[in-house]
Amino acid sequence: MICKILMRPNQSIQQNPQSSISTKQAIGVFDSGVGGISVLQHIHALLPHEDLIYVADSKYAPYGSKTPEEITERCLALADFLIAKQVKALVVACNTATAAAIDAMREKYTLPIIGMEPAVKPAAEASKNGIVGVLATVGTLKSAQFAALLESYGRNVKVVTQACVGLVECVERGELHTENTKALIQQYCAPLLAEGADTIVLGCTHYPFVKSVIREVVGEKVTLIDTGAAVAKQLKRQLADSQLLAAETQPAEVTFWTNSEAENAAQIIAALWGKSAAVNRI
Ligand code: DGL
Repeated sequence: MICKILMRPNQSIQQNPQSSISTKQAIGVFDSGVGGISVLQHIHALLPHEDLIYVADSKYAPYGSKTPEEITERCLALADFLIAKQVKALVVACNTATAAAIDAMREKYTLPIIGMEPAVKPAAEASKNGIVGVLATVGTLKSAQFAALLESYGRNVKVVTQACVGLVECVERGELHTENTKALIQQYCAPLLAEGADTIVLGCTHYPFVKSVIREVVGEKVTLIDTGAAVAKQLKRQLADSQLLAAETQPAEVTFWTNSEAENAAQIIAALWGKSAAVNRI
């Protein structure tokens, strides 16, 4: 059940103190657009009794080419939107947004906030030849968080990074298997393959939606790693620690919100979600 907070004009949105959060409240999940639906699928599979509210900030996608300040402003606006819907936890289903804004979000809000980062650590462990490729956005690859990640887990392997400009937009348009999408993927995977990467990290939540094309391009021998399942597990752990897991009898409701200006936004969301979807316009 989704509850609405009635607000007086000019009343600012305040985050509920954590003590008033109940297990029945939904989990808020957001991304710069539709990519985070790849994470939402893992969350729904692992936590089928949790109500989920997903926000696609598609009007402002891609985040990858924006400044950290611009991304932080969007993340705080989306968090306020979800908190006004009384969510009990927030998942930043976006590597770029996490790198730019997770610290500011944790400073402002006290509810559990789960972010994500490219899976460099599991990739370094999985790689047999010690050469790991990372596909991600410019924003993620330029971030201090990513530099710290390499410092911590990339020391004993060679990490080759590749920014995939334009690929997020293909997924936003629902173009998963077009010639243009495949050409971009070929262009971006080529340098990683040339360096001999045997493991490639999908460091952006939009990329799992083109995983079959990436697989076709890189071949069967390369290991592809994404972070969605790990994020869902981390969310479950954090909800359990805060005693916020929904009762297993609770039927789950998944609701989508989008500010996309595309007429077919609801169809794209339903196609990526894989079943019919309740899509609202912001
Ligand atoms: N899904 C976002 C991520 O994981 C894409 C960012 C963008 O909009 O460029 O990084």
